[in-house]
Amino acid sequence: MEQQISREKADGSRDVIIINRRSFFGALMAVGSLGMGAILSVPVLRYVLYPLYAKASGTEWSDVGEMSEFSGSAAPVRKTITFAQRDGWREVVSAQSVYVSRSAAGDLEVLSAICPHLGCSVSWQQGQSEFVCPCHGGRFKADGQHVYGPPPRAMDKLETRVKGSKLQVRFEYFRSNVPNQEKLS
Ligand code: FES
Repeated sequence: MEQQISREKADGSRDVIIINRRSFFGALMAVGSLGMGAILSVPVLRYVLYPLYAKASGTEWSDVGEMSEFSGSAAPVRKTITFAQRDGWREVVSAQSVYVSRSAAGDLEVLSAICPHLGCSVSWQQGQSEFVCPCHGGRFKADGQHVYGPPPRAMDKLETRVKGSKLQVRFEYFRSNVPNQEKLS
């Protein structure tokens, strides 16, 4: 079945457009295919563009230990935690050392063992009652306050929470050798 559409032009001549069933269904199929293509391309685009909008760090809470482990301890306690970081499509699981210590007010806090000078690993020296960095001799009190040497700030304090009976920490990396604690993203 055909349908004719006649249209008069400015010079008085006429255009005749013939629409038959076959061309109508062909156009319908083309529009349908374009729509389906657009719908199917959404998940592909989201996958391809994911690294552009995904957070590079995104660390989650990590277990440090049972709260009862730390309640009776006056000296800082070294623990190794694991945490996952997402970088684009990759998820990297890392391990880092932290110290569970007490603030001057007596509250539990968790300190990164990464020296804020140039990133060596500090360790608690029971005999000196101080944290000591082996690289350039930086020293810190039990609550992380800077005592001596080139580190420009105190040891980095990490965000903590208690979940059930466990102490948890959100591990972060911070910029080295600057006076204020600046998160690296
Ligand atoms: S890296 Fe620790 S004092 Fe330099």
